[in-house]
Amino acid sequence: MGEVESARVLVTGASQGIGKAIVMRLASRQRFVLAVSRNPPEFLGTSRSQWADRLAWTSLDLSNAAAVEQYAASLGSFPIRALILSAVDYGDGARHGASVTSTSEWQRVIGTNLVGHSVLVSRLLSQLVRTGSGIIIHVSSDVAVTPAAGRSAYGASKAGLHAMLRAVEAEHQPDGLRVYQLIPTFQSVTEGIRRRRPVGFDFSSYADPALVAEVAERLLSTDHSVQGGTYLVRRNGTLDPYPEATGL
Ligand SMILES: NC(=O)c1ccc[n+]([C@@H]2O[C@H](COP(=O)([O-])OP(=O)(O)OC[C@H]3O[C@@H](n4cnc5c(N)ncnc54)[C@H](OP(=O)(O)O)[C@@H]3O)[C@@H](O)[C@H]2O)c1
Repeated sequence: MGEVESARVLVTGASQGIGKAIVMRLASRQRFVLAVSRNPPEFLGTSRSQWADRLAWTSLDLSNAAAVEQYAASLGSFPIRALILSAVDYGDGARHGASVTSTSEWQRVIGTNLVGHSVLVSRLLSQLVRTGSGIIIHVSSDVAVTPAAGRSAYGASKAGLHAMLRAVEAEHQPDGLRVYQLIPTFQSVTEGIRRRRPVGFDFSSYADPALVAEVAERLLSTDHSVQGGTYLVRRNGTLDPYPEATGL
């Protein structure tokens, strides 16, 4: 493994769902992973010795911008090959309209999904760019690009991060930075989604979070063969470019 390949991959949302699946996939494939979430992933206990030499978990609350700044500074100048953004605050309870979305929900959801991730990305850009082939993967959502009725805070936060990352991509393309925004065209069975579905819900049509993890790992492994951009992730793992306006 070369110097760039061995550089660290930072994953947010490490304790559960798609983020956890990504951490497990990368660590089991010998990648050096920095994992963050507020709660520790339960596999840390059982697999601590197995992955101890390549997995470091840190408690981080993305809704606390000062803590995010502090965490980014603590990483020093060691090269970071990739940032994978999978943390999410889906918002309060069941779907509800913008008119009944509380101020605290706006602040928490946008503070976590948009502000926390934006601070993290912006503070680590120099490390990413230094590798000459840095990668950012945003596990995005259809709500970033289509109307999200009943999920206005979640939708606003994902659309905001989507726009922020498109700006970063435009600023740093000459530096070899690739930014992937992945929009799954299917639902995955994750703890966060389970909490939002009624008791007895039939998840049989939902995918395993490992599917998105496999796609993320493929993007880290392919040698510049997939251009940065926004992609629709199909159930069979293929990526279809999502056409975005680049000017008016
Ligand atoms: N699941 C789906 O069907 C689906 C479909 C389309 C897109 N997505 C996207 O996939 C990504 C992952 O979704 P998921 O369903 O796997 O989510 P999930 O099961 O709810 O997991 C969310 C993760 O985010 C972390 N998190 C939440 N609030 C945080 C905070 N304030 N600070 C730090 N970490 C925080 C949680 O860890 P702690 O609570 O320990 O902090 C957890 O690890 C999201 O970006 C979502 O938009 C999912």
